[in-house]
Parts: sequence; C-alpha cells; structure tokens
Amino acid sequence: MTGLAGLGVLVTGGGSGLGEAAARHFAARGARVTITGRRQARVEAVAREIGAAFVAGDVTVAADRDAMIKAALAHAGRLDGLVNIAGNMLRGPIETLDEAAVLALFHANVVGAMLLTGLAVPHLAATRGSVLFVGSSHTRRAFPGASPYAATKAAVQTLTKVLAAELGGRGIRVNCVVPGGVATEINVRAGLMTVDEARARQLAMLPMQAIDRRGTGEDVAAAMTYLLTAPWVTGAVLDVDGGLGLGVTRA
Ligand SMILES: NC(=O)c1ccc[n+]([C@@H]2O[C@H](COP(=O)([O-])OP(=O)(O)OC[C@H]3O[C@@H](n4cnc5c(N)ncnc54)[C@H](OP(=O)(O)O)[C@@H]3O)[C@@H](O)[C@H]2O)c1
Repeated sequence: MTGLAGLGVLVTGGGSGLGEAAARHFAARGARVTITGRRQARVEAVAREIGAAFVAGDVTVAADRDAMIKAALAHAGRLDGLVNIAGNMLRGPIETLDEAAVLALFHANVVGAMLLTGLAVPHLAATRGSVLFVGSSHTRRAFPGASPYAATKAAVQTLTKVLAAELGGRGIRVNCVVPGGVATEINVRAGLMTVDEARARQLAMLPMQAIDRRGTGEDVAAAMTYLLTAPWVTGAVLDVDGGLGLGVTRA
C-alpha cells in the first residue's frame, strides 16, 4: 500500500474534532471515506463537504456497528482501513464515580471499538488492510481525576498490541496514535471546560510552548495516514502530542 488513493476507509467519530480532521485528510488524498457518529446532522454535513459517505450510528449498538461496516463496503466496495476515533471523556474523583457512567465510557471507548474491529476483520483480511485506535497522553502522565478516561485509553493501547499479534497472520496490521494537546470539543461535551480553557491548560504543559504552535487535527491525521500506509509497521503506539506526555513541569 503506497498511498490512500482508492482505499476504503471507515472513520468513527468523523463528525467532529480529530475524526473530522482525519476524514478530511484521507478524502483529500483520494481515499473513499465513510464516516459515522451519533449526531446525523454533524456526520452528514462533513460527509457532504468532503464527498464521503455517512451513516449515523452508535458504536455501542450492535445493529449500528453492522450498518457502519455495510455502509463503508457499499461506498468503496472494499475496506482497507478501520479508524476507531469515536470516544468520550469522563473525569471525577474516584470516590464519586457513577457506575453507569463509567460502564458507558468503557462501552464507547473500548468495547464498541473492539467489537467493530471484529466485524471488520474478514474485510480487512481481504485487502491486507489495517486498524487504527486512538489512545491518549493521559496514559503517559497521570492527571488526578482522570482515572476512568485514562483507564479506557490504556485498555485501547494494550488492545492494539494484542490485536497486532492476533491478526498479523491474516495480513492485518493494527496500530494506535496517542494524541494530546489538540483543543477539540471533547472536554466541553463532558461538561469539564471550554475549548479555550482546555487550550490554556494544555499550553502550560507543552515543552514547545515557546514556539507558539498548538497541536492540530491535521498533525494527528498525518500520523494516521502514515500508519495506514506503512506495510512494515504493526503494533505501534505512536505519540503525536507535542511532548505533552513527557511530563514537563516549570518552576
Ligand atoms: N483532542 C485531543 O487532544 C485528544 C487527545 C487524546 C485522545 N483523543 C481521542 O480522540 C478521539 C476524538 O476526540 P476529539 O478530541 O476529536 O473530541 P470530539 O470532537 O468530542 O470527538 C469525539 C467523537 O466521537 C463521537 N462519538 C462519541 N461517542 C460515540 C458513540 N458511542 N458512537 C459513535 N460515535 C461516538 C462523537 O460524535 P457523536 O457525539 O455525534 O456520536 C464525536 O464526533 C477520542 O477517542 C478522544 O479520546 C483526543
């Protein structure tokens, strides 16, 4: 696989943030992209703009996962890449965590992506395609109060290694990007902070803050493109976080 042109790629969480950036990046490079997310208006608007297909769906619902794979195959006639970006954030002191909310987080961030990957396997085996997961710099440095979210991302990063070993014999590669420091809606949707507050909070922790550059969805999408098209890379967990995970502190 030398480039994305003509490849069938399914992107979950494609209606906003990193998923939208990835879908735009892949479509601009000739991939036949299908995007999904629960908010139909969001995925439809992005899909129309970039010439992608879309299906509104929830990765925690079995029938929706089936529909996602079917939509991607109907659009491209093949599946070369499954890009599991859909995810949510939940934070809070350990003693206050709500069981249903924690289970819902694991369902979306880990179980949904795991089961969708299982559905994609026969189609990816046919193309010698690959799977991408999205971890987090929350696994690289410990943020108090982030236990549910960090635990889901640690699970995803380990899942990457296990599935790379498990699926390699069928020619399927499995990799993970570990973003950090891209100001998206995820904190806002979790009711934690505004995008501007998230940006300011992250800025103080970035080693390269002096160069006045922030991480973008494009940065992450470019790393994803590399992993989707690198035939000798599997089981990689690649940090794309401007060094956020290094744990830099300033006196
Ligand atoms: N921004 C960062 O710096 C950063 C750092 C590390 C990791 N990440 C990870 O990157 C991924 C994308 O996050 P983001 O920052 O781009 O925030 P975002 O804009 O909130 O994106 C999350 C996306 O996931 C979709 N989604 C959530 N639950 C879903 C479900 N059950 N079924 C289907 N789609 C679902 C959302 O769409 P709907 O609400 O319409 O379903 C939304 O489009 C997440 O996995 C996040 O943990 C981001």
